[in-house]
Amino acid sequence: MRTAEDRLLMEEIIRIKQEKSIYIIAHYYTKNEIQDMADFVGDSYAMAVAAKNSPCDTILVAGVDFMAESAAILCPTKMVLSPEPKATCPMANSVEVSHVSKFRQEHPDGLVVSYVNTPAAIKAVSDICCTSSNAVKIIEKLPPDTKIFFIPDQNLGNYVASELKRSLEFFPSGCPIHTAVTREDILQRKAEHPSAQVLVHPECIPEVAAMADYVGSTAGMLAYSSKSAADAFIIVTEGGIMHSINKANPGKKLILAREDLVCPDMKDITLEKILYSLINLQTPITVAEDIRVKAAIALEKMIEYSSN
Ligand code: 13P
Ligand code: SF4
Repeated sequence: MRTAEDRLLMEEIIRIKQEKSIYIIAHYYTKNEIQDMADFVGDSYAMAVAAKNSPCDTILVAGVDFMAESAAILCPTKMVLSPEPKATCPMANSVEVSHVSKFRQEHPDGLVVSYVNTPAAIKAVSDICCTSSNAVKIIEKLPPDTKIFFIPDQNLGNYVASELKRSLEFFPSGCPIHTAVTREDILQRKAEHPSAQVLVHPECIPEVAAMADYVGSTAGMLAYSSKSAADAFIIVTEGGIMHSINKANPGKKLILAREDLVCPDMKDITLEKILYSLINLQTPITVAEDIRVKAAIALEKMIEYSSN
């Protein structure tokens, strides 16, 4: 339920963003009201491309820190604001530059593919980035006999490896929210809703991905649910996506695989913080130029490989 206070905040946000020409980009895991007033809502790949194509010189990114950082890396002449710079992704922070250095020492001809859920310093030492929407497409284009270190999400890595029947070296990390979902959860939801299709994010464990009718990014799930003839879907990712799927498919039934599929960092972004950020132009996100230049190569390569 939207409160009168929320409505006032949204009106004020819309007024100020128009007055100051600020483009708001949000992720599907943000709160419903944030998705409703953003100029653009997308998965992490689409958010990065939207930042590059932003019609405004100032961008506010409603998402966790690596999403704002990606925008800052790709848009050095634009001001990128984060309404809550402390909102982060624990999985992204689990890998260190020393892990990459060790791999490079052991495999001088190897390639490092980093999920976009990484800090700028990791992107800077990676050969190419990927997101859940393009990881298969990108790795498919890499030389077949080359050793690949896929960081940091071993579940996404596992999914890519099984799709391409190619072995990858993984880093032992994963998303605490997605990895909580078990095979038993899906069996239970399917028993309760036998006609529902199962849509799974590839950050889930392989046993769960194996039970899916569709595996893909948040934007992929939204697109799949819109074109599928099914009238019910079991959603196996963070619950925020339910709002956008519901808006696009008002007659379809959505069942979240578990009630606790909530990313607390994403939910730490609020209308109040966005309004403060727009009024005070806070907090600008910057990346040291030597890191930014190297990280931009890995991100631009991702965009090039996923567009062809
Ligand atoms: P998407 O790129 O699929 O939106 O995923 C981002 C993310 O953080 C998933 O947990
Ligand atoms: Fe990170 Fe998981 Fe939150 Fe996505 S849902 S931002 S992977 S903690």
